[in-house]
Amino acid sequence: MKTSLKEFRQYVAQVGEIDPIMIDVEKAEGIWVWDTDGKKYIDMLSGICVGNVGHRNQRIVEKVKQQLDKYMHIMVYGEFVQSPQLNYAKRLMSVLPNNFNQIFYVNSGSEAIEGAIKAARLYNNRHEVISFKNSYHGSTLGAVSLLSDEKLTQKFRPLIPMCNRIEFNNEDDLLKITEKTSCVVAETIQAGAGVILPKNDFLKKLKAKCQEVGALLIMDEIQTGFGRTGKLFGFMNYGFVPDILCIAKGMGAGMPIGAFVSSNEIMNKLNNHHPLIGHATTFGGHPISCVAALENLNIIIEENLMDEVEAKGEIYRTKLIHPQIKEVRGIGLFNCIELKHKENWQKALISCFEQGIITGTHLFNEGCLSIKPPLTITYDQINLSIEKILKALDALN
Ligand SMILES: Cc1ncc(COP(=O)(O)O)c(C=O)c1O
Repeated sequence: MKTSLKEFRQYVAQVGEIDPIMIDVEKAEGIWVWDTDGKKYIDMLSGICVGNVGHRNQRIVEKVKQQLDKYMHIMVYGEFVQSPQLNYAKRLMSVLPNNFNQIFYVNSGSEAIEGAIKAARLYNNRHEVISFKNSYHGSTLGAVSLLSDEKLTQKFRPLIPMCNRIEFNNEDDLLKITEKTSCVVAETIQAGAGVILPKNDFLKKLKAKCQEVGALLIMDEIQTGFGRTGKLFGFMNYGFVPDILCIAKGMGAGMPIGAFVSSNEIMNKLNNHHPLIGHATTFGGHPISCVAALENLNIIIEENLMDEVEAKGEIYRTKLIHPQIKEVRGIGLFNCIELKHKENWQKALISCFEQGIITGTHLFNEGCLSIKPPLTITYDQINLSIEKILKALDALN
């Protein structure tokens, strides 16, 4: 049955201005999304890096059904022992560097960022938080305080004090990280800026600077996690280890879950901060989301999904050649097309939708379109998506 677009816009508050095209979703499977008219689309966004193992992956669906038959929400975690939380924690720790030995479950990326900043502040008893220009870490007030874009922050002021910004890939700016800095929050690859990769060991140098002054490095792997860059987490490509890891999106393969992960030493400050609540969230570590997250991790590892991610991404980077394209850049299946004429972005999006391609623009760089399909995409499907994108761009000439 068709959903009324008019009613949808009237009753459901939107994240921003209405998108030029709204797909009335009927179902989704693998790389495909169908609308209620029966038209099918290749999802080049993966629900913004959520469906790394594909929409409705059957292994996930099965585990969710099994847990549904046992129990759903019982209690805020901690008070009751819940095996899905422990099982996931142990599996995740088994594939992370040794300093990661405790996880705090939340429901979203924004919440993971909030919790990580609180943990850092408690740990070193400092206040300054440094983030990067043109990074997005979420929409809660703490996360908004990290934004550099005045247009996004102005109306919400006053924000959290002592939040300062530096430039990504600018080594001189690292000098602004000092003994006053509690933590630096960084993306491994800047997503909203239009897939900006770290250059010249920038992240290694960032980690060294943090270590030198006693600041904690919080990596936001909310988009780059779970195999998208060809490694389980983006930082694993760049030879350093963060102090706190923030994860969400692709963690639950379509079920809502997020977390921040760190050492016992850092997490204990949060755990022991108050007799009742150091940090809490009712649905954090929801058992259904945890079993989905565990199966997601198992699928990525057991089905060797990461092995071909870089080769698949390279096909997009080499075959997407068109007069409307300035550059295709990225790593693994975390890529974007930068249009030659930025102002064409809306036309390009609509044209892609018409060709059956779901893609999106970038918050701080509208002239860039996402190429972030599920990691399960086959080589034939890659070629089909390229064909459709090039055809869509032809319509702009
Ligand atoms: C890099 C990054 N960090 C944090 C967030 C916030 O995550 P959530 O929307 O789950 O709160 C997002 C969401 O798009 C993101 O892309």
